[in-house]
Amino acid sequence: MKVHNVELVISAVRPEQYPEDGFPEFALAGRSNVGKSSFINKLIGRKSMARISSKPGKTQTLNFYKIEEKLFFVDVPGYGYAKVSKTSREQWSRMIEEYITSRDLLKAVIQIVDLRHAPSNEDCMMYDFLKYHNIPCIVIATKADKIPKGKWEKHKKMVRDELDMEVHDTMIVFSSETGLGLEAAWTEIERRMAIE
Ligand code: GTP
Ligand code: MG
Repeated sequence: MKVHNVELVISAVRPEQYPEDGFPEFALAGRSNVGKSSFINKLIGRKSMARISSKPGKTQTLNFYKIEEKLFFVDVPGYGYAKVSKTSREQWSRMIEEYITSRDLLKAVIQIVDLRHAPSNEDCMMYDFLKYHNIPCIVIATKADKIPKGKWEKHKKMVRDELDMEVHDTMIVFSSETGLGLEAAWTEIERRMAIE
């Protein structure tokens, strides 16, 4: 999709604040600093529309980006940031859980993992959580530019095995640096948009 119009409609913390446009939504999930905001920026062709952190834990709210009057990307705070207090961790869980489990407009969660490393426990828990709630999932293995191409296949298998991914679930090797996987990601998103 060629993107011309992007608008940050709202940074929400509660369901009453979610937008009412009724467009399909795609939420990002992944460890803090893994590259969720960078993924959004790459897909919309902007350098810094979604805020990219030099420090992890930058995204604190559910940020609804309206794309072309067609869909929303929902940028979500990352998990696994050690310096977060127990209270804000609990607030985070409640906010994400509330959104993911109750939002009918949510078409799929785009789960971002780092292609370089085996998925963390929290990555596995997130994937299992999505499976448990029957939420369609697109796995994006990002930062591919940081390892040689010859290792991609091996690392793809490592990610798939560790998450114990279902065979029909899509995994896309991606890089926000080089744009690798950009077309494939849009194709998958548009396919999901078309499913009622
Ligand atoms: P939080 O909002 O804190 O949860 O982080 P995030 O998941 O949104 O990560 P963000 O997009 O802010 O990226 C974190 C860091 O990783 C930044 O320094 C990015 O420039 C870098 N980064 C993200 N994607 C890639 C990639 O594909 N390749 C490389 N080399 N760096 C990347
Ligand atoms: Mg972010």
